[in-house]
Formats: sequence, structure tokens, C-alpha cells
Amino acid sequence: MSLHRITLKDGADLDGFRRAVRRVIAEELAPQHVVWTIGSEPDLFGDDAGGEAAPVALPRPVGELIQLVVCHRDPERYALLHQLVWRVLNGERELLQIASDPLVHRLDLMARTIRRDLHKMHAFLRFRKVGGQHLERFVAWFEPDHFILEATAGFFIDRFRSLDWTILTPVGSMRWDRAKLTYGPPARKEDAPSEDSFENGWRDYYESVFNPARVNPTAMRAEMPKKYWHNMPEAASIPALIQTASQRVERMIEQEATMPAKRTPERAIEAMWDQEPKTLEQLNAIIGKAGPLVPGATQAVFGEGPAHADIVFVGEQPGDQEDLQGRPFVGPAGKLLMKAMGEVGLDQSKIYLTNAVKHFKFEQRGHRRIHAKPTAGEVKHYRPWLMKELELVRPKLVVALGATAVLALSGKQIPITRARGRAAFGERQGYITVHPSYLLRLPDEHSKREAYDLFVQDLARIRDLSLADLDTGELPLAAE
Ligand code: URA
Repeated sequence: MSLHRITLKDGADLDGFRRAVRRVIAEELAPQHVVWTIGSEPDLFGDDAGGEAAPVALPRPVGELIQLVVCHRDPERYALLHQLVWRVLNGERELLQIASDPLVHRLDLMARTIRRDLHKMHAFLRFRKVGGQHLERFVAWFEPDHFILEATAGFFIDRFRSLDWTILTPVGSMRWDRAKLTYGPPARKEDAPSEDSFENGWRDYYESVFNPARVNPTAMRAEMPKKYWHNMPEAASIPALIQTASQRVERMIEQEATMPAKRTPERAIEAMWDQEPKTLEQLNAIIGKAGPLVPGATQAVFGEGPAHADIVFVGEQPGDQEDLQGRPFVGPAGKLLMKAMGEVGLDQSKIYLTNAVKHFKFEQRGHRRIHAKPTAGEVKHYRPWLMKELELVRPKLVVALGATAVLALSGKQIPITRARGRAAFGERQGYITVHPSYLLRLPDEHSKREAYDLFVQDLARIRDLSLADLDTGELPLAAE
């Protein structure tokens, strides 16, 4: 039998491979009769191209492995995958279970390499803002080791759905215009901006969360290889942080063992106020421009309600629904809050709702985005914005929903059980109660009911306080 040549497109030609492998299987061409090549003019069987063969039913793990391995740079990838498919369809359905098989071993190593490359691109790609306020676009430059650009599209669309972004790489580019994705030609590093206005924000954040006691330069370099540093604003701090790590550890030991991070990124944020915001709109424009501190959020979620409301409720951070809709308290916890407010006749349209942290932080588990609690450093980062927001709204009463809001408003970590009730946040009259999501998390109906009743009682007191002439005298930061 003569040899068949199959040429697929350069890069990760998953569609081309699928079509070709269907034909190969339909025509019963064993691996030894096929030469797989890569070129700019793809063909299937030369002149014999065209015609769709029937799909091939493969076990799911085989399909998943193919999707990863086609991204590998190894020019033999398609030939190896052909061998895999051939053997699986010819009596070795469980082939992937045999880790010692040389083909399985090689493909497994290739798949691991691709997973690592995907992880690096997800974690270390940094967008930079280009364009003016009205035509805001984000551009990132990244140099993956393999052909993973297409494979990362879903990840970046999920996270930055509401932004207009472009990712440039030496092997291709892609653009998401908030509605559709298009692929483009390879790019050069010079095509991407090298700095933007939030560079300092990133650097400060990294320095504030950096723990000198955990410095292990070898591990750091393995996890965050140096080749990615030049795209990451925070990486500028790494050499200096490593050099001074041992002195900083000594200082930490001399001081308290559990001392929270001393440095705060507040000055970076304040430095971004070219002009002190005079209105909520101006403040929100600044928050929106800064982007999320921890990458992932779709958009900033601003406070909402009358500009001079009597009561401001402060939550922790937007949840999944809030992040997608760009509005505070529209998800399950928000619905519960609205229900409880309704029960005591608190008029929602007169209340201003906001959060300590303006972006959703989460962990991705499969398709689900699971809420991740903001760290004290992150709460501190957003604090100047919250303080400015309160200064602009000038409410009579500020309600802290849960411990994160208390931390943001008072600067102190205080258990809600101790602090629940009327309080003072600096000069401001306040009230501390639980976060509605706490009620949702309680394990059984009975405790849920009890906790909900107490929450409704708190809201009734908040309603009364907002109507009363509040004494501006000092109040302890604790229950009355
Ligand atoms: N939880 C919060 O703290 N804020 C929201 O906006 C939603 C849920």
C-alpha cells in the first residue's frame, strides 16, 4: 500500500485533525501508511481532499487528550494521535489506563506540558489599558511555549466578558469585542503597550501580600518563570523583595508573629486621583478604570441608590450574579436582604447599597465560580474608595453587613457576635449585623429561621435609628 500524506495547518489544527482522522479511519489507513505533515497549505490526502467521513466514537478521555496534545509543538503530535486512535478502535479501548505503554506515557507527558502552559497563561497574562475613556480597550502580550491561544479563549472570555480585549502572541492573536471572538495574525511584542496607569497598583498589591518568610527563590522561579516577568508589572519588585527578604523576616520576628502587612497600597490609589472625586460618578469612573485587584472579575460593581441616602448598607464584595449584572445585591444574598427589609418596611428605594470590595473574587471549580473571601490587604486596598463614597453620600447611618464590612469601616477585625448592634465608625453612626449570606449558609431550617428573625429585628432597629435624631456623641465600637 502506498503512503498517504496528510498536511494540516500550522498551530493547533484540531478541526483539521478531526476531519483527517475520520477519513483515515473510514479508509482503514493504519498509522504506518500515513505521513502527517504540517504546512501553510493544508490538504487532506492531496487531490483526494474533501468529503466528510462519519464521526469516530472515542472514549471521552481520549477526546480530551487529543484536544490537549494537538496544542503541542512536537511535529509528531498528529502521527502519535493517529496511533492512539487506531489502537483504541482496534481492540485497546482501555489503552489510556496503561501508563507504562510508551505511547501513552509520551502523550501523557505532552498533555501535562500543555496543562502547565495553559496554567501559566491564565495566571501570568496581564492586560494593559489602551484608548480613551470612551473607547477603552485592553491589550496583552504573551509568549506561550505551545499553540494554546485558541484553547485559552474560553477562559478569558468568561473572565473578561464585558471588556474589549486583544491577546497578542508570536503565533497568532485573538480579539474579543464584548460579543464575538476573532483570530488574527501573529504579533510582535512592540505591538502591545508596555505600561498603563495601574502598574503601580499591581506592584503595591504584590508587595503588600508578599511574605518574606516564605521566600524560596527556586520555587518562585519554577512557579513564575522569569520569562513571564517582563509582562507582569508586579515582577519589577521581585528581585528587591528577594534581596531584602531575610532582613524583613528578622524584623517580623522582632515584632509580632502575626503582624498584618504593614504596607498598604492606599497611596497608589490616592496617587491615581489626579483630581479628588467630587461626585459618585467621578469616583466610580476611577474605580472602574483601576480594574480588579485580583484578576477575574467581569467588572467593578459600584454602589447604588440615592446620592444622599439616609442609610448606607455595606456588604463584603459582589457575588457571581452581581459581577455579571454589574449591580450590588442582586443575587441570592441580596434577595434575602430585600425580603427582610420589606418585612420591616425599610424602603429600598431610599437606601444606598454598596460593598467594601468592588470586584468579585472567586475560585474556579469546573464551571462554577466559588466566592473567595477578600484578604485584609485587599479590603485595605479598596478602603479609600469606600471612605470617599461615604463622604460623598453623607448618610445618617452606616450599616455593616458582616465582618468584612466591619473591617473596612473600622479598620479592625471584630467578631460579629461581639460587635452586633449600634456602633460608631469614626465620626459616623453605624450599626453592625450579620451578612445575609451567613443566613443562607446555615445548615438547617431551624437555625436559619432563628437567625433570620434576629436579622429582621436588627433591620427594625436600623429603620427606627434612621428615623430618630441620632445622638452624635461617642459610641463604642461594639453593641450598646
Ligand atoms: N454579597 C455582598 O456582600 N454584596 C453583594 O453585592 C452581593 C452579595
